[in-house]
Formats: sequence, C-alpha cells, structure tokens
Amino acid sequence: MAAAVALELDRVSRRFATRGSGLFTAIEALAFSVRAGEFVSVVGPSGCGKSTILNLVAGLDRPSSGRVLLNGLPVTGPSTHVGFMLQKDLLLPWRSIARNVEFGLEARPMPRAERRARAQQELQRCRLSELADRYPFQLSGGQRQRAALARTLAIEPDIVLLDEPFSALDSQTKLLLQRSFAQTIAGAGITTLLITHDLVEAVSMSDRVLVMSERPGRIVEEIVVDLPHRDDPIARRPLPRAQDLMTHLFDALHLADRTDA
Ligand SMILES: Nc1ncnc2c1ncn2[C@@H]1O[C@H](COP(=O)(O)OP(=O)(O)OP(=O)(O)O)[C@@H](O)[C@H]1O
Ligand SMILES: [Mg+2]
Repeated sequence: MAAAVALELDRVSRRFATRGSGLFTAIEALAFSVRAGEFVSVVGPSGCGKSTILNLVAGLDRPSSGRVLLNGLPVTGPSTHVGFMLQKDLLLPWRSIARNVEFGLEARPMPRAERRARAQQELQRCRLSELADRYPFQLSGGQRQRAALARTLAIEPDIVLLDEPFSALDSQTKLLLQRSFAQTIAGAGITTLLITHDLVEAVSMSDRVLVMSERPGRIVEEIVVDLPHRDDPIARRPLPRAQDLMTHLFDALHLADRTDA
C-alpha cells in the first residue's frame, strides 16, 4: 500500500501587497507533496519563499491562490498536530526548561500531572532531564535548541516544520543535534519539512530534497536521496553516493554563478 500523503501544496501562490508598486509574488503555483513519515528538505536562494511556505503550512498565513492540505484537509489556521521550530529557539525566558516543554500542552484539556509526565518523557528523550529546572539563559545554544526541540515534539505532532533550526549552532553541536533529531523523528515516524541553506544537512537528513528557483519561488528540481541510515546523518555524510548527491545539489542551485549573497 502506498504511504498516505501528509502534506500537499496544490498550485499555491502567495502575493504580497507592496506600497506603491502593486503586488509582489513571493511564490508562484507551487506544487509538491510529502508522504506520511517522509523527511523532505527545501533549499533555494535567499528570498525565494521558503519561510513563506512554512508559514502557509503552519496556518499562520493564507495562500493568495491554490490550496494547502494537511492529511487531506485544507489548512485554515494553526493546528495542534503541527510542530513548528525556527532558527531562533523562542523559549520563554521566565519559564524553566520543563515548564517551557509543557507550554504547548497547556492548550489541551489534560490533567496537570499528565502534562508534567509527558514533558518529563520528552526531556528524557532529548537528554535534558538534568537541565529541567534551569532557565533558558542558563543553557548553551545547543541545549536551548534541544529544549526547543523537546517542546516541539512534546505535543506529539504528526508533522514538524523546521526553518533552519540548526544554522546558528557550532559545527559539532550541529552534527550531534542533527543526529539526535534524526533518531527521534525516525523512531516516532513524524513527517518532516525542513528549510535549510546547508546542502550537507539536506542530503544527510532527508528522503528527498526540493530545489527552488529565485523569486518567484518554484520547484525546479527534486532529488531523491537514495541512501541508507536516515536516522544517522553522521554515518551518511562520508558515503560516496552522498557526495554525488551534494555535488548534484550544488549544480542544481547554480551556486557557481549566483550573485545573491
Ligand atoms: N509579509 C510580507 N510582505 C511583503 N513581502 C514579504 C512578506 N513576507 C515575505 N515577503 C517577501 O517574500 C519573499 C520571500 O520571503 P521568504 O521569507 O519566504 O524568503 P526565504 O526563502 O525564507 O528567504 P531566506 O532564505 O533569506 O530566509 C521575500 O522577497 C520577502 O521579502
Ligand atoms: Mg526564511
């Protein structure tokens, strides 16, 4: 049986009104889908509409035309089945790490003890139990991102949307966090849409990579990552086939002749 489609963008365009010069098209007739449990990355030049896509899928914004479907239903607003994580961790500074992880569960009719237990479980999975009573300012950047991840996963989302969540980390912390995230995601079978500028990250973590053109953003290429070990990006990186895919991605983005940086 074919895996169910978790997310579908059906010819989605987003135009923004601009002062003076009319409408500005950020993305144009974008169409792609993500299967349940699949890990898809989106790469493309700055300003091509990647964050716009995530905002639409998260229900924080509406398409100008076309439809965004989650599990077959049109997105009409934020959903408790969708986890969202950004480059900046957005932890609440006045709450302990445990209370930050509990935050997303507070909207649910759930006894306090159950909420606590659920948060503890997630903290354990993200190896944060010892830091549960600390406040965000008492954590390193990597620990804060791990806490943000625990908070995102505590709601037991069907799908996780990530906008460059690892980009601000030093390269070693980044590798370790990518791996622990990959293990958690694969173990729980969570569908993932990752926005990244890091081509190595895209290849080492995904099942598929979508390449976008410059604005207005369209998908210009799709690369199937036919590599083993999706739960271990560190093991994937040195594989010769991974190197081939990275080179392919580099070419697809025309990095050699781009001038937008
Ligand atoms: N609310 C808005 N009003 C007007 N223009 C917007 C708005 N939001 C985004 N844009 C424009 O739409 C385009 C796409 O923006 P978006 O943030 O999706 O880019 P991006 O691909 O995420 O870029 P980056 O890689 O730099 O994060 C940009 O040119 C941006 O300036
Ligand atoms: Mg962005």
